[in-house]
Amino acid sequence: MCGIVGILGTAPVAESIVEALKRLEYRGYDSAGIATLEGGHLTRRRAEGKLKNLELRLSEAPLEGVIGIGHTRWATHGRPSEANAHPHASDRLAVVHNGIIENFRELREELKGKSYTFTTETDTEVVAHLVSAEMRKGLDPVDAVAAALPRLKGAFALAFLFEGVEDLLIGARQGPPLAVGWGADEMYLGSDALALAPFTDVITYLEDGDWVVLRPGRAEFHDEHGNIVERVKQRTVAGALLVERGNHRHFMAKEIHEQPEVVARTLAHYLDMLQGKVRLPFEFPFDPNALDRITITACGTAYYAALTAKYWFERFARLPVEVDVASEFRYREAPLPERGLMIVVSQSGETADTRASLHYARTQKQHILSVVNVPSSTIARESHIVAPTLAGPEIGVASTKALTCQLAVLACLALAVGRARGKLSAEEEFRLVNELILLPGLMADVLNHEATIEQIAHSFAKVQSVLYLGRGTNYPLALEGALKLKEISYIHAEGYAAGELKHGPIALIDEVMPVVVIAPSDRALEKTVSNVQEVAARGGRIILIGDARAAQEAAVDLSGFVEMPAMAPDFAAIVYALPVQLLAYHAAVFMGKDVDQPRNLAKSVTVE
Ligand code: AGP
Repeated sequence: MCGIVGILGTAPVAESIVEALKRLEYRGYDSAGIATLEGGHLTRRRAEGKLKNLELRLSEAPLEGVIGIGHTRWATHGRPSEANAHPHASDRLAVVHNGIIENFRELREELKGKSYTFTTETDTEVVAHLVSAEMRKGLDPVDAVAAALPRLKGAFALAFLFEGVEDLLIGARQGPPLAVGWGADEMYLGSDALALAPFTDVITYLEDGDWVVLRPGRAEFHDEHGNIVERVKQRTVAGALLVERGNHRHFMAKEIHEQPEVVARTLAHYLDMLQGKVRLPFEFPFDPNALDRITITACGTAYYAALTAKYWFERFARLPVEVDVASEFRYREAPLPERGLMIVVSQSGETADTRASLHYARTQKQHILSVVNVPSSTIARESHIVAPTLAGPEIGVASTKALTCQLAVLACLALAVGRARGKLSAEEEFRLVNELILLPGLMADVLNHEATIEQIAHSFAKVQSVLYLGRGTNYPLALEGALKLKEISYIHAEGYAAGELKHGPIALIDEVMPVVVIAPSDRALEKTVSNVQEVAARGGRIILIGDARAAQEAAVDLSGFVEMPAMAPDFAAIVYALPVQLLAYHAAVFMGKDVDQPRNLAKSVTVE
């Protein structure tokens, strides 16, 4: 996902723009660039690769100017290169873009017919020439942008800078987020609050379809019909939350280690710790007794949180739950019960497929509850109820603390719905809530075994594939473990329901491929131990993640054993997520991979 920054400043902006772009690096990118007005003249510096290459370019050829725009590019159209790096320019303006212009080919042909020549493979260059063509008709920059925007189809956040116009920036939003930052005597544009945090903590998010005209000290918001509208100024906490790695090598390591603290903070938001009861920070705007089904949708790691929640809602609230990946759900036209409950899970709150599924659910008159880590995100703003995870900014592309906080929230919601439906007694609630309260301590305990996990992870470095097995709520965790390993170490991995081993995957067992078995002492332990023995009987390499009892019952030679603390099984997945994350992290570090910004990945996929 690309990053956008714009500054309408009072002092040279080049350095500040680069600093802001650094706070957007977590989104994943492959090139970067900046444009300013030097004496009114549009000048650009761009570079392939990381921001340090752009900084080098700027040190060789500094940019003056107190107004500018900057961009980190995650390539969609056109390979990563300096030529394809933003800002893209036409004869009188420059533009930076996050998203996809779906009709760029037809516009490209139209503009070629108006004698525009294209120097890049990008869809963004079309936007620059389209606005330029409107200016050639005599329109001023604001009217030219207003005339061009309705021609664009697809998802875009844009920022424009105009030759010779030192007191104007224009921003537009159709999908990917864009915010205005209010400075003391400067104005800003940014993809999110983190980008603007070095300058201000007072921001205004554009709504879908909005565009905004920034002049010194003021912002004029227009809706998709061109009407001037008011948009809410809000103070954001992003600035206050130091987005630094601390004493960790990677953001991912920091975020794995933050989990005991942030899960505790999240649980405290949903539980009455003293009474041992769930205490949601909101009222349900529906009668849980009137529900006859829950639908949950998400992508990637959030989808595995959703799959885990299915077990909890079915067990504690006695409600059938349907879970689907958002990219499938959005096109299925699934029949949904009148006034049913749709739960949407998303760390960023900006994932395009998840948003589209939310929109479908609205057309089906569902109650929409979103579990998000960014309360100001689009999904949050489009939901009826927001259940925030208090994980704090998650910078590592591979999601870790967001997952365990999502699970904590979903567990509390399942207990609350169960109580409201009379399916859970006060005693059972008390017992389960006390299990939840113990989780942060157990998580901290597991982190003390990191060295053991690190050693096991190093043995992954030379393997071609890894198989993860789990039952019950540890089946989604097996899927998540495989995803974590794939996405940061690039080793192929597959998660499977342990009970399915005999239905095919057992053919894969050999003495090379590690088989990671997630086996808390729950009602399925005996069956999972049988699976372990089946793998051992075929000479398989077993890595057991379980407590002492699991190892004792398995009674086979283990290639690796991560001893977990004894604990109640109901919410074990929240604690067992940590060794699964650490295995992937240490394998990737050992292999020298870019752990925080893995190749080809973006932190939030705001395009289809
Ligand atoms: C998880 O490690 C991945 N980075 C990715 O699968 C992510 O979970 C997915 O893109 C969903 O993102 P969201 O939670 O922000 O919607």
